[in-house]
Order: sequence, then structure tokens, then C-alpha cells
Amino acid sequence: MADFSSQAHDKKIYFDNAATSWPKPPQMIEAMAEFSCQAGANPGRAGHRMAIDSARIVYETREAIAGLFHCADPLRVIFTSNVTEAINLGLFGLLKAGDHVITTSMEHNAVMRPLRYLQAQGVDLSIAPCSREGYLDPSDVRREIRKNTRMIVMTHASNVSGTLMPAAEIGRIAHENDLLLMVDAAQTAGVIPIDMQKDHIDLLAFTGHKSLYGPMGTGGLVIGERVDLANFKPLKMGGTGSNSENEVQPAFLPDKFESGTLNVIGLAGLLASLRWIDQNGIDQIRAHEASLTRAFLEGARSIENLRLYGPSDAAEKTSVIPFTLNGKDIGLIGEWLDERYGIFCRVGLHCAPAAARTMGVFPDGTIRFSLGYFNQLSEINYALEALRALSER
Ligand SMILES: Cc1ncc(COP(=O)(O)O)c(C=O)c1O
Repeated sequence: MADFSSQAHDKKIYFDNAATSWPKPPQMIEAMAEFSCQAGANPGRAGHRMAIDSARIVYETREAIAGLFHCADPLRVIFTSNVTEAINLGLFGLLKAGDHVITTSMEHNAVMRPLRYLQAQGVDLSIAPCSREGYLDPSDVRREIRKNTRMIVMTHASNVSGTLMPAAEIGRIAHENDLLLMVDAAQTAGVIPIDMQKDHIDLLAFTGHKSLYGPMGTGGLVIGERVDLANFKPLKMGGTGSNSENEVQPAFLPDKFESGTLNVIGLAGLLASLRWIDQNGIDQIRAHEASLTRAFLEGARSIENLRLYGPSDAAEKTSVIPFTLNGKDIGLIGEWLDERYGIFCRVGLHCAPAAARTMGVFPDGTIRFSLGYFNQLSEINYALEALRALSER
């Protein structure tokens, strides 16, 4: 197999699930169409049956999210348009000048950029170093704790190396030191079990369109019971459909943090995807993705000049696989994979320059394959052959 250019246009091998999952479960698409055709009204803005149907969808989505992450109260699920907004809500809502926050050197810019902004406003920032494979040693976080430390914020798994982070150990450290822990679960929600209570996670930020297999434009922040709501500022204020006689933002959940019409069509889709995950089982989804990752890692090791980054054991990572080939321009490899082989992946820094620096791949970055539940072993084998052919060019 040298070059498949003639067939490539018929092929669609999607290895970009860390950016957004594709395809989506058919149930998601049906639920969104059904919402548009049947419910369609604005929840909480009227008392008629269509608005009530809409509100029921929103509440059931809150319940499903609360259940997935082990949060006892569905009203503590705040919907946002993505995980970036959820992280911004947690950081801007809770930190003020003079506070100290700890993060890791593997963060996405969804964490780093708001933190750098806050740093310029007088928030102290410490960045715990990770190894080249992306591993975090919890004692490096513990060492950074000071008198004014308020929060630890960290990814649950790197979107560049796939490395799973020790959230439970960090949660224990946060709890012992009376700090808040906010976790960016963009890469793990729906594929790695998350228990906010057991792991002492106070703020769980998620996005709907990646491993939750929902639509873009959905996400949220789940707020744990240790968070002081009175001192938690909303990112935005406005109409909530509640307390309309009052010009002051409601103080109760979720309305305090959810102004403006929600993306209900998106939530209808997310609800269907959450039910689909439940039917398949997170363990089954994880097992399938891990077996594909293992197969790819094993095959890739025998390709000359292919250099893998991140953990070598599939059990210690998600299905995000970074690599470089022959020292060739990664943009060119990405183009060839698309045009000649019909393989869609992402190349570059993946919005996480800190992670690239930690892994020693800054400024070029890596080629990133990120697998999903819909991928098959035959696609892995095909991609390995394509890479082997490219490595020989
Ligand atoms: C670890 C991590 N955090 C945050 C984000 C941002 O996700 P979204 O664009 O859905 O807000 C991503 C997306 O790539 C990510 O991988």
C-alpha cells in the first residue's frame, strides 16, 4: 500500500475525536429534530405545555449530568455553552486579587489564558511541573500550597499527550488543605468514570460535544457543596424566567449563573447522548477505545522514524495519541493523511502551548490521532499502513 489517492476521497477515517466526537449517536440527531418539531418553546419563560415540555428536557439533562458525575443535587449543574465558559465561570467567579491558584504545566489554554489574565489582575499563580510524558506528581502540587491558596485547577487528562491526571490524590490534598479543586474534564467526561464526591472535586467543568457525544454548544459546571455560593460571582446576569419582579439577579441555583435562553435544542441532543452512553456503559466505551489505542501504539512502535509521545501504556492515557514522523513537517503529514488516505486528524499545538513545552515539542507540536467509540480496528490497521508508507517516502 503506497498511496491511496484515488480511493482517499471515498474514505472518511475520523481520528479527531479530541477536538469533537464524530459521528454522533443517531439518537442525538433524532432528539434534536424531535425537539424542533414538537417542543421548541422557551423553558421557564411561560406556563404552557410546550414550555413545560422544554423545561422537562432541561431538568432531565441536569439529572443525567448529576448522576454521571455523582453530584447529589441536579440544581448544582449549571449549563454553559462549552467547557471554556464553565472554566471561566469558576475562575472569574471565585478568584480575586491577592488569592493564590495552582495549576499544572499540561493545561489547555481554556485554563491558561484566563489564569494569565487573572495573574495580571493580581492573582498569584503557580504552575506545578509535569514530566515529558505529562505525568503530574501530587507532591509537586502540595509543595506549592501557601497561606493564600484558594484553588487548584487542572485538566483530568491532557488533550495533547492523553495522560490521565491523579485527580483523586489532588482532591485529597485540596480537601486536607481546605482548597477548592476545579477539574477540566473536557477529555474524560463520558469515557473515564468521575465521582465528584469520592474524588473531592468541587467544580467539575465539562463540554458536551467531545466524549459525551453530544452537540457543540453544550457544556457546564457542576458545583460541589463546599463551594461558597454567596461569594461566587456570575459571569453574566439577565433574564432567568424567575423572580421577574426583581431587577437584582436571583441568588438561587441554577438561575444565579444561567441568564439568557439556554441552548435547549443542544441539551435535548446531549440528553439523548447521555442515555446512549448509559446504555453502552462507560466501561465498555473505555475498553473499546483503550484496545484501539493499544493496537495503534503497538503497531506504531515498528514504524521506522515514527516517534510517539506521552504514556506508552494505554491504561494510563485516553485515546489521544501524539506523534511525529521522520522529523517531517507535521502540517504536510496532516495534509497527506487527509488527501491521500482520507484520514482526518489534527496537527500542531492543540491550543495547549504549555503542554507542548512540557513534552519538548514546542513550537511545532505533534500530529494527533484521537480515537472514539465509533472507530474500528480495521481503521487503525489502515492508518498504520498509511503511516508506514509515508515514513518510507
Ligand atoms: C483539555 C481541554 N480543555 C478545554 C477544551 C476546550 O473545549 P471547548 O472548546 O469545548 O470549550 C478542550 C478542547 O479541545 C480540551 O481538550
